Amino acid sequence: MPSYNLAIVGFGNVGRAFLRLLIAKETELRRKYDIRWRLTGVATRRVGWFADPDGFNPIALLNGHWPARAANSTQPKDVREWLERAKADVFFEASSLEAQTGQPALDHLKAALQGGAHAISANKGPVVHGYRELSALAKEKNRKFLFESTVMDGVPVFSLFPLGLPATELRGFHGVLNSTTNVVLTEIEKGRTFADAVQRAQALGIAETDPAADLDGWDAAVKLTALAIVLMGADVKLEQVKRTGIRELSEEKIRAVRAAGMRYKLVCRAERKGDSVQCCVQPELLLASDALAGLEGTSSAIRFDLDMFGLSIVEHNPGIEATAYGLLADLVRVAVG
Ligand SMILES: NC(=O)c1ccc[n+]([C@@H]2O[C@H](COP(=O)([O-])OP(=O)(O)OC[C@H]3O[C@@H](n4cnc5c(N)ncnc54)[C@H](OP(=O)(O)O)[C@@H]3O)[C@@H](O)[C@H]2O)c1
Repeated sequence: MPSYNLAIVGFGNVGRAFLRLLIAKETELRRKYDIRWRLTGVATRRVGWFADPDGFNPIALLNGHWPARAANSTQPKDVREWLERAKADVFFEASSLEAQTGQPALDHLKAALQGGAHAISANKGPVVHGYRELSALAKEKNRKFLFESTVMDGVPVFSLFPLGLPATELRGFHGVLNSTTNVVLTEIEKGRTFADAVQRAQALGIAETDPAADLDGWDAAVKLTALAIVLMGADVKLEQVKRTGIRELSEEKIRAVRAAGMRYKLVCRAERKGDSVQCCVQPELLLASDALAGLEGTSSAIRFDLDMFGLSIVEHNPGIEATAYGLLADLVRVAVG
């Protein structure tokens, strides 16, 4: 029975939720997929880089008990050495998003693949800034580079293509892909202030470390770019996305349009125009009859415009477990090949 050594960078909301889910699904993973695992590497910016090929006690880690370092032990000098010490088979990247470069997550994933581990990312920066390079490296090393949780958490938006929809042409898509702005707009509609609404999103564990990344549309733009690059083969850079966040909407205006039977949503759009794919993120005023207008709280939705038909997917009120599930599903994909 295969046993996987798992190593994870980033032990915040996502990393911890993933470890809880691994523990909760341990029996199911073993029975259905013959997967056994142990956590042999864990790292955060402030606490440091820990590796033990015999595995850590996951419950102790979740309770904040980091392993004591032996008196003569040193910190690994870089991620490569850490992965070697952890004897990692599968590497998970769950550190904070750095939207402009995807670093240092991009280098972490490269090091993992170069060292012979599979690479799974919840961090979308490396998809936007290194998808082609990481995919080519994974192919060369006969390993997998997967990132399903980066957009719509556990919903298999990337896995749907190409095999779920063979011989179709994706002409465009649009959707509401950022949970924080959806929560913030919903809470303002209910009467909270902008600042209180942001705090609510942070309390739910869905806001990016720096909420400006959500409010100014960066997170939505990164997701849009990732989808356009991976699903439409677009040669689009993050800075080419036309981007407007939600800060310019006043609380009064948000409540007034709601009272009048309409809603603001931060909408992402990609459309093929000739050889290029045009991408934009902006608040749109939607009629109540629009499917996107009905989205509440953390819910998100996407509509794919295919040459054969239109396809809409709604993710209803996901919590952090849904993101953790996306990582777990990628682990199963690695194991089943
Ligand atoms: N939250 C969601 O709903 C969600 C959904 C999908 C994808 N994601 C993505 O998942 C990732 C993690 O999100 P999160 O909500 O878990 O964030 P978080 O709670 O802020 O945790 C981030 C973790 O990354 C660590 N970290 C940051 N920079 C690092 C570095 N340079 N080297 C090593 N560790 C580093 C932090 O360590 P310290 O605490 O020691 O600084 C912390 O443990 C992000 O890329 C995010 O975009 C999040």
